[in-house]
Amino acid sequence: MCGIVGYTGKNDCVDLLIDGLSKLEYRGYDSAGIAVMCDGQIEVKKSKGRLADLEKKMGEEGKPHGTCGIGHTRWATHGEPSDINSHPHGNKRVSIVHNGIIENYREIKEFLIDQGYSFVSETDTETVAKLLDYYYEGNPVDAIAHVIKEIRGSYAMGILFRDFPDKVYAVRKDSPLIIGLGEDGNFIASDVPAILKYTRNYYLLEPNEIATLSVNGVDVCDIHKNPVKKEVNVADWDLDAAEKGGYEHFMLKEINEQPTAIRTTIAPRISEGMPYLEESGMTKEMLRDYNRIYIVACGTAMHAGLIGKYVIERIAGIEVTVDIASEFRYRNPIITDKDLVILISQSGETADTLAALKLAKEKGATTMSVVNVKGSSIARESDVVVYTHAGPEISVASTKAYAVQLSVMYLLAFELAYAKGAISKEKCMELTAELQKVPDKIQDILVLKERCQFIASRLINAESLLYIGRGLDYALSMEGSLKLKEISYIHSESYAAGELKHGTISLVTDDMPVIAIATQSDLFEKTLSNIKEVKARGAKVTMICREGTEDDKAVANHLVTLPNMDDIMMPMLALVPMQYIAYYTAVLKGCDVDKPRNLAKSVTVE
Ligand code: AGP
Repeated sequence: MCGIVGYTGKNDCVDLLIDGLSKLEYRGYDSAGIAVMCDGQIEVKKSKGRLADLEKKMGEEGKPHGTCGIGHTRWATHGEPSDINSHPHGNKRVSIVHNGIIENYREIKEFLIDQGYSFVSETDTETVAKLLDYYYEGNPVDAIAHVIKEIRGSYAMGILFRDFPDKVYAVRKDSPLIIGLGEDGNFIASDVPAILKYTRNYYLLEPNEIATLSVNGVDVCDIHKNPVKKEVNVADWDLDAAEKGGYEHFMLKEINEQPTAIRTTIAPRISEGMPYLEESGMTKEMLRDYNRIYIVACGTAMHAGLIGKYVIERIAGIEVTVDIASEFRYRNPIITDKDLVILISQSGETADTLAALKLAKEKGATTMSVVNVKGSSIARESDVVVYTHAGPEISVASTKAYAVQLSVMYLLAFELAYAKGAISKEKCMELTAELQKVPDKIQDILVLKERCQFIASRLINAESLLYIGRGLDYALSMEGSLKLKEISYIHSESYAAGELKHGTISLVTDDMPVIAIATQSDLFEKTLSNIKEVKARGAKVTMICREGTEDDKAVANHLVTLPNMDDIMMPMLALVPMQYIAYYTAVLKGCDVDKPRNLAKSVTVE
């Protein structure tokens, strides 16, 4: 997620902007920049890399001075990390910083080129800046109102107009932005940490409200220019809590960010109700030719690949082999130039996955990566890249990255199935629409945290526990088991429910916790039988299932029920209680949830 700051007041703004951006570094970024009103002109300084690189550049080129400016730390989505793609973007008359994704920037860019505009960057943001210039006829609020009626997507923007050298303008929709109310001036910021040093008082901007900041105050109006009276909020967090958005841990914050992360990832990949991955370079013609797919990854990313296997084979009827990268790279896999090898990686830097990618390329396969970090090694080396837009994932235990990796697997499965003629356009649109319902469904089930907290309290003294399921539930149980192990240090094992009776059920003793995932309607009765098997041997069963058939569920000791969706979509919902149960077990055990022992966020060595 990008970071935005802005200031207009009595003091020089450059150090304030840099300090504010430094408090947003936790959001992750790959470039930074500022725009300052200096002697009636907009002066821009921006650089790829860290804030220190920007400050070094200003030391070399001269530091701007002024009391009104905007700043930005960029988490690349459109366009690689580079000086030219860094924000701010604009021209002599207008400059903007932006957080979000403009879905219709391509058509706007074509229109502006027809109007004689030229573009220097690959970003969607530059398009918005030039559209503002196009509509500007002397009134900044009018120009902003025109632009937000035309653009689609998510945005939080800080804007400078040369003709109004002491004002900062701001507007947002779906991306966060607050207005800080200080004694010596006023601020805009993506998040509270950036302003805490100067003020605890702030406005929350509602979608498409336009704010005009000056040294003496802040005016807010709606898109029709009607004045809006704002309530003052007071931040009572310390800085550490503020960086976590008020959540106790980054992991909990990231679990709660999943609805937004999924929306931001899938929205640009759906066009007229159909999956649209062409922007990644994967065309329907290419998809039609593959008869075998490998999915290669590590840890949670590999678990996302497992869900992808079940979904792609069920919907598209294409054989999928899922491999752990550290095994794939040494087992001399049989790959031809007719195969598609998909690498999934949040960091894009995992050594084993990168090595697997290189091996697949050596063998002539087409390589497609699903990566969260723009411009990372795996992304750069792949033939085709589908970026997830989860924003930086700070907690070592992957949560929102897993959710968005799944969402890309679903889109790929639907597009592949349609390209292969395995499903009709109507069915493809129906499945795509079902996927688009997931973020709201996840939002609804985030309230399950108290239930999961109670269940976690029953796990903290366990020696070991089992996660069981069948089909997609079994694939998901692997992720649930890993989450619990890696942050609570309690041993657990994921097991195919139907396989228990072939040996592992001998482990089940009185009070052994078993987490049974039973969301697949076609396998529900069979999973129920397996639950009864372990119950009969003394296990304490938590059952994660869909609403309805309450009497069948009396067999479990604890229940987590989920809203009904298409069977194939249920892992997208069942992942939430998996994550919550692991999180609260670790918290109750007093573990270091965000930085578990022995683990690194990205394993860049073998
Ligand atoms: C997930 O909770 C783990 N932290 C770990 O398994 C991780 O998924 C794995 O190391 C792969 O990392 P990547 O997605 O960055 O490649």
